[in-house]
Amino acid sequence: MEEDLVALVQDDFSTLPVIEISMGRWHSHFARAVKRLGGVTIDLYRSGELVGQSVVYRLDLGSRVLGVIYYIAILPRYRGRGYGRVLLASAEEVLSMRGVDYFVATISGDNSPSIALFQSMGYSVYSWGEVSKVCGYRAMETLRMETCGYEDDLIAIKKDSGDADLREVCNADGKKARKWWREACLKPWLIIRGSAMAGDQS
Ligand SMILES: CC(C)(COP(=O)(O)OP(=O)(O)OC[C@H]1O[C@@H](n2cnc3c(N)ncnc32)[C@H](O)[C@@H]1OP(=O)(O)O)[C@@H](O)C(=O)NCCC(=O)NCCS
Repeated sequence: MEEDLVALVQDDFSTLPVIEISMGRWHSHFARAVKRLGGVTIDLYRSGELVGQSVVYRLDLGSRVLGVIYYIAILPRYRGRGYGRVLLASAEEVLSMRGVDYFVATISGDNSPSIALFQSMGYSVYSWGEVSKVCGYRAMETLRMETCGYEDDLIAIKKDSGDADLREVCNADGKKARKWWREACLKPWLIIRGSAMAGDQS
């Protein structure tokens, strides 16, 4: 690609314009919540203009370390030009440098562009039912907590190096995963709901 594309890692989550435009304020609120838990943003610039954003985090709760691609979005007018692939490759590189075994992302079953993007980058895509069959229900729930994936039906998985083994991915500490989920997913949800229970969940 000959265009002037630059991906920059940053930890300023004060505005996440591409995620907000692409997915709405609700999602940008959830994306912001992982900043205090070690998440980072990768901004993709084309000739100085911000065209894409991804929010990722690293999670070490078991015998493997997950690199979670929590959000990835390209501005609508720039889609279909290969920028999503460039941004995903950059997100993987950032996570890889932080030391992860697997890249994972949850996807809604009706989001065909996103499913195709991850598949085109070598990910295997599973339904939660398939994960449950291979790993068992509790392990599937643990993975759903680690990825904040309750709204989505699918999980995309790729090993940083070598072939992915779903059973390996399922191997995490359920108690720690629940604690993570409360901080990263439940609390932001309660805040958005304006619930007074927010402080009582940890
Ligand atoms: C998903 C998204 C990031 C893809 O970005 P993009 O820049 O359009 O993707 P690319 O141009 O790099 O395309 C990469 C591959 O994805 C697939 N793809 C992209 N857009 C597609 C579409 N509209 N329909 C089907 N497949 C599509 C293709 O397989 C493509 O490979 P190809 O060009 O060799 O055919 C973009 O559509 C987006 O921002 N969507 C809204 C936010 C979102 O849903 N994010 C994912 C959930 S967090």
